Amino acid sequence: MPAEIKLFMCRTDNFGALLHDRESGETAIVDAPEEAPILAAIEHSGWTPTMILTTHHHADHVEANLALKQRYKLRIIGPEAEREKIPGIDDTVEEGSVIPFGSETIEVIATPGHTAGHVCYHLPKSKVAFTADTLFALGCGRLFERPAPVMFESLKKLAALPTDTVVYCGHEYTLSNARFALTIDPDNAALLARAEKIEALRADGKPTLPTTIGEELATNPFLRWADAGIRKHLGMEKASDADVFAEIRKRKDNF
Ligand SMILES: [Fe+2]
Repeated sequence: MPAEIKLFMCRTDNFGALLHDRESGETAIVDAPEEAPILAAIEHSGWTPTMILTTHHHADHVEANLALKQRYKLRIIGPEAEREKIPGIDDTVEEGSVIPFGSETIEVIATPGHTAGHVCYHLPKSKVAFTADTLFALGCGRLFERPAPVMFESLKKLAALPTDTVVYCGHEYTLSNARFALTIDPDNAALLARAEKIEALRADGKPTLPTTIGEELATNPFLRWADAGIRKHLGMEKASDADVFAEIRKRKDNF
């Protein structure tokens, strides 16, 4: 049976998520942006958290680590490269690490760029990936600690996951991402249709997650470096994939 997931909002635009294996009762909190909504989600679910999976050290992803650790007997797992910056960390992971999770395993994908040690968590059996601030629905994270070529390699790894992988990201930025995406890829019918759907969801106050790798490959300009239409639009027909990505990221910074 695939892992169960509960998604909820924290702070202003952070997503919180609970991940649960029914057979073993194992439950992970994926990032800990804010204590109260996480406690409410736990209470509502009836699950007992056994671990926090930390993607990166930013305060809006780790703020509730210590409070949750004090309340529950859980282990905090996070990237080795950010060990010093993650409150309460017990176990560290890196590219290729495997975390036992009930009847399945969670695989760690190192995705530096937004931060130097950012990791994503992938459950191949359940076909789910938590991509935090690396890959957003229709966007990608800002490059705070590593330059564009590094983020490009990180995104390439996520783009190579099976297309039916269900994706949960770290923030509800999808509407502004959609508006930007349309400036890069204005003739993409799949993007136009998705942008309309997103406008409607947000008008109703509904989340735009989850997405899938396949949907992102079809509509997210940050994964579409090879697309002939985008390259033509940017006047970069002969540029490398990494350079096309870097140009799109630069335009988003100034959007
Ligand atoms: Fe972040």
